[in-house]
Amino acid sequence: MGFSLFVFLPFLLLTYSVADPISELRSLLDLKASLDPENLHLGSWVASGDPCGGTFEGVACNENGQVANISLQGKGLAGRLSPAIGGLKHLTGLYLHYNSLYGEIPLEIANLTELSDLYLNVNNLSAEIPPGLGDMQNLQVVQLCYNQLTGSIPTQLGSLKKLNVIALQSNLLTGAIPASLGKLEVLMRLDLSFNRLFGSIPTKLADVPMLEVLDVRNNTLSGNVPLALKRLVDGFRYANNPGLCGDGFSSLRSCTVSDSPNSERPEPYTGGETGLPTKNIPETADLNLNCSGGPCSKTSKTPQASVAIGVIVVIVIVSSVGIL
Ligand SMILES: *[C@@H]1O[C@H](CO)[C@@H](O)[C@H](O)[C@H]1NC(C)=O
Ligand SMILES: *[C@@H]1O[C@H](CO)[C@@H](O)[C@H](O)[C@H]1NC(C)=O
Ligand SMILES: *[C@@H]1O[C@H](CO)[C@@H](O)[C@H](O)[C@H]1NC(C)=O
Ligand SMILES: *[C@@H]1O[C@H](CO)[C@@H](O)[C@H](O)[C@H]1NC(C)=O
Ligand SMILES: *[C@@H]1O[C@H](CO)[C@@H](O)[C@H](O)[C@H]1NC(C)=O
Repeated sequence: MGFSLFVFLPFLLLTYSVADPISELRSLLDLKASLDPENLHLGSWVASGDPCGGTFEGVACNENGQVANISLQGKGLAGRLSPAIGGLKHLTGLYLHYNSLYGEIPLEIANLTELSDLYLNVNNLSAEIPPGLGDMQNLQVVQLCYNQLTGSIPTQLGSLKKLNVIALQSNLLTGAIPASLGKLEVLMRLDLSFNRLFGSIPTKLADVPMLEVLDVRNNTLSGNVPLALKRLVDGFRYANNPGLCGDGFSSLRSCTVSDSPNSERPEPYTGGETGLPTKNIPETADLNLNCSGGPCSKTSKTPQASVAIGVIVVIVIVSSVGIL
């Protein structure tokens, strides 16, 4: 009994990876009910239709007949993003910016491991950024700016090797800038401006080789600004962070002993304006401090994936032997 399950397991795994148009249609209809509760804009998404037939507004499919893009920017959608989004496993682009979506970003979004472009900017989304974004290894552009997102920036974003653009400006984000973002080899643009971030600017951010723009304006950051950020010239924007100091930046005061990141001093300015506790929170959430060179910048994901692949290979071999 156990043996025949062993033989069929690989085929079950294969079955799950091919197109399933019925379940994609079901996901789209669920999505429609929450994105457009009054059915004002997505009338073309109907149960009797074919999502890949060209009639579903804003839906594009790939050559395998799987939903690949949803492009509904600026359509006046005034609803929520449903967890059903997680059912569209082959989505590469989700463009829902310039709408009036509210509520949270569902955790199920982390199921979209082929997604490269996530545009949810200029809506009214709230709650925290799902840490599961860190599992979406194909993400290149994360546009979540101009919402009401709270909580801190997930450290996990630092494991997304293809990330080009992170735009989180004009939200209500708190906490520290994760030092893990310093591991992003192809990051060009990091916009964290107009939030409530505190702590220091991680020195490792200055190591990001492709970085062109780092915008941290209007936060409550403090401490010494890494001198290496001077190479960004005008791409480094830091105004309106009264606690920042640094030599070599014309509009920053010089640092004093009390700016040292290690001194357990009370905050010299009223960071308490927002009522946030600034004391017991680590300045940077990333403990992997010895990662300047490279070999250790491979995160735990890779070994896990290899083990999983190894297990599958073993199962396939064992079951082939069983068939012969
Ligand atoms: C999805 O959108 C991207 C960006 O607009 C585009 O490059 C890609 O060709 C689209 N894919 C499909 C299947 O339409
Ligand atoms: C997301 O993936 C998990 C595991 O792969 C699955 O159990 C869950 O049903 C998926 N969620 C959605 C909304 O598809
Ligand atoms: C967000 O909600 C506020 C208050 O309800 C509203 O004034 C604003 O226009 C909304 N923004 C968007 C982008 O829908
Ligand atoms: C940015 O900070 C400046 C100085 O504190 C303040 O005058 C301005 O209103 C802030 N802008 C926003 C959009 O918060
Ligand atoms: C960092 O790594 C180098 C060489 O790999 C080693 O010599 C050094 O002691 C390490 N530093 C820390 C803080 O672990």
